Amino acid sequence: MTSDPFEAFKMAQREAWKSFAPLAQITTPTAAKLVHFAGVRPGQRVLDVGCGTGVVAITARRAGAVVTGLDLTPELLAVAKENAAIAEVDDIAWKKGDVESLPFRDGEFDVVLSQFAHMFAPRPEIAIKEMLRVLKRGGTIAFHTWPPELMFGRMFALVAQYMPPPPDPKPAPPGQWGDPNVVLQRLGNFVRDVTFDRGVQTAPALSPQHYRRMMEQSGGPIVRLLQSLKDDPARMAEFRRAYEGIVAQYFDRNVVHQDFLMTRAIKA
Ligand SMILES: C[S@@+](CC[C@H](N)C(=O)[O-])C[C@H]1O[C@@H](n2cnc3c(N)ncnc32)[C@H](O)[C@@H]1O
Repeated sequence: MTSDPFEAFKMAQREAWKSFAPLAQITTPTAAKLVHFAGVRPGQRVLDVGCGTGVVAITARRAGAVVTGLDLTPELLAVAKENAAIAEVDDIAWKKGDVESLPFRDGEFDVVLSQFAHMFAPRPEIAIKEMLRVLKRGGTIAFHTWPPELMFGRMFALVAQYMPPPPDPKPAPPGQWGDPNVVLQRLGNFVRDVTFDRGVQTAPALSPQHYRRMMEQSGGPIVRLLQSLKDDPARMAEFRRAYEGIVAQYFDRNVVHQDFLMTRAIKA
């Protein structure tokens, strides 16, 4: 028996994210940016929350850190292990788990990182409390998130319009994590020296339709939406046109450009 009221939501998330691996090509360069932004140094104990296929974890390990990667989705952890073997780093600890209930001791890590990951936890206040709990005092927390007013944030809002309304209690919208004011409020007095920056992710695509198709195959929220629209082709077509319209605004010379928010802070 579980007492987590979001268990069904998390099971659906796990199912939707299991085909994410091809998109890790796109998150690989930004992983290096996050590791650099966090100032990861050799010997530091680093946790990569929502590690997916391991792009941040393996980059931190190659920078000399002692690394643990945690993710909700076992299929992605299996790819992460393969990636670690290819990179010839066999000492990363990979753990299946939930950011809302981290299986680590208080203060176990020097650095806690999350690239486009903890933002999908349904209860932001619990996710951030857990990430800060396992971070030592004076340690660094750093993450990348999608701003609500840009492409991914607009996609999240569009997907929410086409999904059946979630039952209560409702998960927090992931795009909120891309708003610096919300981030400041969620980090509260638990941290000092909060620093924001912006990065840009670039995804090659032959057309907005190609990009849309790639996201339908591998982008968790859209994979889930398409599943729910499979018996309503008219509504699916309407969603696709609206989504392509958004993507087209970020598409230039066969590249989709997407700015993201970078946050770094020190645990007080
Ligand atoms: C967009 S992917 C990012 C993966 C990886 N960090 C990267 O940059 O390529 C989002 C990841 O968050 C994970 N995730 C979603 N909800 C989670 C939760 N509650 N706890 C841990 N991981 C979660 C998914 O399984 C998925 O691997």
